[in-house]
Amino acid sequence: MKLLIRELREAKGYTQKELADLMQVSFQTVSKWENDVNYPDITQIPKLADVFGVSADVLLGMKPLHAEETAVKYDEVEYWKQKRDVIKVWKKFYWNEDYFRFLVRDVWKFSKPMDVLDFGCGYGYLGSLLLPLLPKGSTYSGIELDGGQIEEAKAYFAKTDYECEFFQENFYEFKPKKKYDFVVALFLLSNMPNPQTVLEKMKSALKPGGMILIMDANEEVEQAGYYSGLERQESGVRQPDFVPLWEDELARGQRDYRMGTKIPYLLKQAGFQNIQARISDQVMIYEPSDPAKKERNEDFRYIYSRQDSRQGGVGYFLNHGYSLQRANEVIDFYQRTSDYFDREDSIAVKTAGVYFVYANL
Ligand SMILES: C[S@@+](CC[C@H](N)C(=O)[O-])C[C@H]1O[C@@H](n2cnc3c(N)ncnc32)[C@H](O)[C@@H]1O
Repeated sequence: MKLLIRELREAKGYTQKELADLMQVSFQTVSKWENDVNYPDITQIPKLADVFGVSADVLLGMKPLHAEETAVKYDEVEYWKQKRDVIKVWKKFYWNEDYFRFLVRDVWKFSKPMDVLDFGCGYGYLGSLLLPLLPKGSTYSGIELDGGQIEEAKAYFAKTDYECEFFQENFYEFKPKKKYDFVVALFLLSNMPNPQTVLEKMKSALKPGGMILIMDANEEVEQAGYYSGLERQESGVRQPDFVPLWEDELARGQRDYRMGTKIPYLLKQAGFQNIQARISDQVMIYEPSDPAKKERNEDFRYIYSRQDSRQGGVGYFLNHGYSLQRANEVIDFYQRTSDYFDREDSIAVKTAGVYFVYANL
């Protein structure tokens, strides 16, 4: 049995000591409950449920938490402030920088200076890649809600000669003072409850004939491109079925995990011309005995292990409509995969499913 005590305590903002005082037990007892060393007495369950404001089945992990407890809003800043590190790790799995250079130089072939505007620019990563590849005199501007990331972007560009400008603003309210040649968004639309509205905003900042570039993944494509030796050694250890999670998030207006493949359609609907797409050629290999891949191996371990507690992970999937058994299976998969990655003979292959979709106004 997996009680959601840690998850619910953290959601309420209590320390172990505060919860212990409310329950009139020692904080060591709370710690034991949270680490499954032992369980609360059955007579304590109603009081615990009351302290957390949930029903006993939620506390016992048999029923999802209330939807509003996980209704993260991805077009607001709170979530992203906590994700600064993980965004950087994930990015390494998306594309090869040499492939991006190829697109800019040999496919898009810009011949005149470009004014670039990046929606949800984060720490300015895309600008740092693009500006050295664009004709001299090009400029980079970014809109981003998270002030911490803007500071990082400014610090980076202060060490270069490139002209740049950052707006710490909500792009829904952004009123561009000028029009841009090239409007871009990286891993943004998949997180937006209404991507069409964001596209309209991007369009309003573009010069006639200007180019839009949207990059986003399709996780279904990525999942088809994943293989680990664990599958071979323990038959039946396939990746869990994430489709119910994706459908639930989409239905709640959270993330769209298939966005990459949908972008051409959205661009067509928004009135763009000459819509074309490429897909990343990045294939990452986990192979622990190769010292040259040390950092890559660490990244694999990081993304295939969950940062929250086991209860937290199970609670997350319960909230998205998984049965307790299915939720435990997903968390078991993460656990077995990260254990597998601890071995010398492990190997895994991860293919990026990132689309680069571009079009003209
Ligand atoms: C997935 S991150 C991608 C960041 C960046 N493009 C990158 O790849 O490094 C999405 C970013 O959009 C920003 N964002 C989300 N909603 C926003 C809004 N309404 N206005 C401005 N920025 C927003 C977030 O703060 C976050 O940094």
